[in-house]
Amino acid sequence: MAAKPFHLGWFMNNTYGVHGWNQTWGGGDGQDWTQPDLHIEMAKAFERACFDFFLMEDSLFVPDNYGASTDFYLRRALRAPKNDPLPLVPLIAQATTHLGIVPTISTSFYPPFLLARLIATLDLMSKGRVGCNFVTSTAERAAQNFGLDAHIEHDLRYEMANEFVDLVSRLWSSWDADAIVADRAAGTFADPARVRAIDFKGRFFTSRGPLNTARPPQGRPVLVQAGGSPQGRNFAAKHMDSVIAAVSTVPEMKAFRADLRRRLVVEGRDPESCKLFFVVVPTLGETNAEAQERFRRRQAGREAAPEMTLAQMGSLTDIDFSTFDLDAPLGELTTNGQQGTLKRFLAQGATLREIAANYRYGLEDPVVGTAEHVAGAMAEVMQEVGGDGFMFSGPVTRRHIAEITDGVVPELQRLGVVRTAYEHRHFRDNLLAF
Ligand SMILES: Cc1cc2nc3c(=O)[nH]c(=O)nc-3n(C[C@H](O)[C@H](O)[C@H](O)COP(=O)(O)O)c2cc1C
Repeated sequence: MAAKPFHLGWFMNNTYGVHGWNQTWGGGDGQDWTQPDLHIEMAKAFERACFDFFLMEDSLFVPDNYGASTDFYLRRALRAPKNDPLPLVPLIAQATTHLGIVPTISTSFYPPFLLARLIATLDLMSKGRVGCNFVTSTAERAAQNFGLDAHIEHDLRYEMANEFVDLVSRLWSSWDADAIVADRAAGTFADPARVRAIDFKGRFFTSRGPLNTARPPQGRPVLVQAGGSPQGRNFAAKHMDSVIAAVSTVPEMKAFRADLRRRLVVEGRDPESCKLFFVVVPTLGETNAEAQERFRRRQAGREAAPEMTLAQMGSLTDIDFSTFDLDAPLGELTTNGQQGTLKRFLAQGATLREIAANYRYGLEDPVVGTAEHVAGAMAEVMQEVGGDGFMFSGPVTRRHIAEITDGVVPELQRLGVVRTAYEHRHFRDNLLAF
């Protein structure tokens, strides 16, 4: 492998509206999403391509942010329905051997003890291959599903998230790695001296502990987050093993990396201890011209239907963009939802029409072409940015997945810039190996 290889993963948007469920390659009857088969096939493909991990997005509400109604979203299967990703974890673990598996959970609404136990159980069952994407949950409608009238304020949610992660980490450490002695002669299964209460009393959470299952094989399952606001990045710098950034240009990638590394140093951490992944959505073709034509058609679709982008963005920011003039200059907007995402979105143009046309969910424009061309472009970008990896994303169709895992990745491997085999047993060790 080259001196500075990079990591790969897949970010699965757990929503079927943007994946053309009603189009060719979309899976036919629109029922694929209810069954685990597609996700298991995906996971096997990701493992064949030696990805670090498979991240499954999640949210906890049916949006009604566009036109003050759920109609727009439900008719298009945009952000709902979606199954809970957690039950997929053991199924994927059984079907794979090395792949890291990362479901999404909410630090605002999950009870920390239950989450610590659930993730520890999954890490034990998978022999050390589970992680957790910690999100604060951003939608007012999600808060209302959990007994609140209005959502907790953005910065306060991150203060809770910090305490949440602190608490679950302590619960995972409440059993020593060698607590289970299974000593038949002494009649001792677990050594009580190696299992401790934690007596955690925080501002938001209290938990006595110890956890009632053993220490996870990884010690601490891999912690991931994707919030891009300063509070989100500080949360990452304090606790996370990996961060996902959905930015679309090389200068943005470089700035994000420099900023995160600076925050890691402020927290007293080695910047290499937290791996930054950039979302990338390639468009493939048999020839570069064919790929460009595909991209052009996708862009034309985006421009013809800005409401798809606006409704999607509305559900992330609790802003009803249907109430704005598409062609009038847009003033300042604020949100208690995804602040990092809104800031990037608004920077894409002066009017909503321009913004919707220009908005990209990750790196898209430089990665259009044959598999060889896309691999070369990715290697070049990563060389310039300096690390640490890419998260592929895009439609959840067998076609798109094969184009990446059987098209682009073998070309990246040929270039010597990504792994061709797993070195370690645990997800964390593979993630931190380079
Ligand atoms: C690439 C990416 C993936 C995300 N995945 C999820 C998710 O699965 N569920 C969720 O509720 N929020 C998700 N988020 C939102 C963030 O985790 C975070 O809660 C949100 O961006 C608010 O943080 P911010 O204000 O710091 O940007 C995602 C954000 C990005 C950029």
